[in-house]
Amino acid sequence: MTYLEQYAQYVGMLEAELERLLPETDAACPQEDAIPQHLCAAMRYSLMAGGKRVRPVLLLAACQMLGGDIEQAKTPAAALEMIHTYSLIHDDLPGMDDDDYRRGRPTNHKVYGVGHAILAGDGLLNYAYECLLGNALRFPRNMEGLVRAADAIANRAGVRGMIAGQSLDLLSEHMEPDAARLLYIHTHKTADLLTAPLLAAAYIAGADEAQRDALCRFGFCVGIAFQIDDDLLDVEGEAALLGKQTGMDAQRGKMTWPALVGVAAARERSARLWDEAEEALSIFGERAAFLHGFAAQMRTRKS
Ligand code: IPE
Ligand code: IPE
Ligand code: MG
Ligand code: MG
Ligand code: MG
Repeated sequence: MTYLEQYAQYVGMLEAELERLLPETDAACPQEDAIPQHLCAAMRYSLMAGGKRVRPVLLLAACQMLGGDIEQAKTPAAALEMIHTYSLIHDDLPGMDDDDYRRGRPTNHKVYGVGHAILAGDGLLNYAYECLLGNALRFPRNMEGLVRAADAIANRAGVRGMIAGQSLDLLSEHMEPDAARLLYIHTHKTADLLTAPLLAAAYIAGADEAQRDALCRFGFCVGIAFQIDDDLLDVEGEAALLGKQTGMDAQRGKMTWPALVGVAAARERSARLWDEAEEALSIFGERAAFLHGFAAQMRTRKS
């Protein structure tokens, strides 16, 4: 199987799991036990709009590489994509980045209004934890591994993780760019949600500490490179391919790598990090073929 076929297979697995966990509801009238139709539609609008599915793919691929049970990893992969999608819905709100397009469609609040965009984000976040806990109960023989995986996801998504990064991102608008502050922002708003799937996979598969550390290093380098590339794509990418508007960071006075060091130096920094990410995989030898393919593919992404 080629790298691209394997990637598509992981995406297929993820999307089937999302459909299983959050099917469309046709109950217009709220029923006991059912998600209200409008709320469910708002959640699904962003969740089922495509997207690269990078985080769940990393979770499934790392779990398979480590010899873990992929059945146990499907729900954590879906939960992580729910958390990521909620972070995008809220990131686009008028009180945050105030964006109109995402994943090739109008942003959630443009369609459902600010109130339901907030609730759709809240809904995805809370439902992600319901799913993670339910999954740990479903596989009692690996309850500890699954709870540790859920814990890794929770704290990287939380107030010392992604939310912390988003807070500093907002507070740093129109400030003079500063390398240490920018690294903090990128580490938390982006890299934390990229180490989360790798750590979660390590716990599900019962990996040892050296494997966990190597995966964490890989995830950190991928995460920072991924956000530098996101900043670069905002300057020189194509909105039609990205599915979101470009030029917004400069307009908002965001602290970004291109703003700190210029486009050329930012490109170099990203290239070094992609190399470093692949070096971190050395302990896995040939088993890491998919993760090497991932790095090779993502470093030249246009979307
Ligand atoms: C966008 O994430 C936000 C960042 C952290 C840069 P992605 O680039 O993974 O967005 P989707 O999921 O493919 O839409
Ligand atoms: C967002 O970073 C990271 C999140 C946690 C959502 P950006 O604000 O740069 O992401 P885009 O460019 O809107 O996708
Ligand atoms: Mg933002
Ligand atoms: Mg944004
Ligand atoms: Mg961006």
